[in-house]
Amino acid sequence: MMVYLTRRYRFSASHRLHNDRLTTEENARLYGKCDNAYGHGHNYVLEVTVAGDVAPATGMVLDLGMMDGAVQRAVLDRFDLMNLNLDDKRFRTVVPSTENVCIEIFDTLKDKLSGGPGRPVPRLDRIRLEETSSNAFEYFGDRPKSGTGKQVR
Ligand code: NI
Repeated sequence: MMVYLTRRYRFSASHRLHNDRLTTEENARLYGKCDNAYGHGHNYVLEVTVAGDVAPATGMVLDLGMMDGAVQRAVLDRFDLMNLNLDDKRFRTVVPSTENVCIEIFDTLKDKLSGGPGRPVPRLDRIRLEETSSNAFEYFGDRPKSGTGKQVR
């Protein structure tokens, strides 16, 4: 029986929305204040959703401690209190928009969550990254949205 588990994490980072392949004017027009040369920060709220069968022996989809460890090492240690444009190799060439950070977190985490020895292996279902109280982005790894088998994103 498939159950979805969502856990919430927080990290803070700064970024500048800027594309080196565009002119100064084009960047200003496209990104506005988000192109400010010295960047700006966000307190991101990250939600990680995994889907899996409930292990009869534990009654759980995934051990939360294991999940916390994987997210800590793969995401929080990498991004928390960083300047995404300067500190992170990936975003030296890719615009660190929250959309792109969301995809990067999914791709980084997808192979790092397992149920442990003898346990079912859940799959990473969704990454939701909230940038502000008004903006949030979700990525499902290019699969249909969970629970809606026919819906195509
Ligand atoms: Ni921003």
